Amino acid sequence: MAKLNLVKRDGTSLEIEGEPGISVMEMIRDHGVDELMALCGGCCSCATCHVFLSDADMGRTGEVSADEDDLLDSSDHRQTGSRLSCQIIWTEALDGLTVTIAPED
Ligand code: FES
Repeated sequence: MAKLNLVKRDGTSLEIEGEPGISVMEMIRDHGVDELMALCGGCCSCATCHVFLSDADMGRTGEVSADEDDLLDSSDHRQTGSRLSCQIIWTEALDGLTVTIAPED
C-alpha cells in the first residue's frame, strides 16, 4: 500500500498508510497526529491544515485552486511548496509523498 511520509513540527517523521479517496489532512488526523487543527473539517475555509511539500514532490499533487491560493496567502508561513492538506486527495500514485506540517499561524 502506498505510504505518506509525514514530518511533524518537532522534526520527527512517521509513515502513514495511504487511503485512496480521502484527503491527506484526514489521513494525518485519523493517525492521531493532533498538530493539524483542520478547523473547517476540510471544506477549504480555514488554512489550519497547512503543509509543505518536499521539493521532489512539487507538481505531484495537482493544481492549487483559487480558493486554496487565497487561503494560503493568509498564512505568514507560505512558501513555494505550501498546500492545504485537505485539498490533496490520496491516490496510490502519491506513494512516498513527503509533507511537513507548517508552523501554526
Ligand atoms: S481543514 Fe480547513 S482549509 Fe483544510
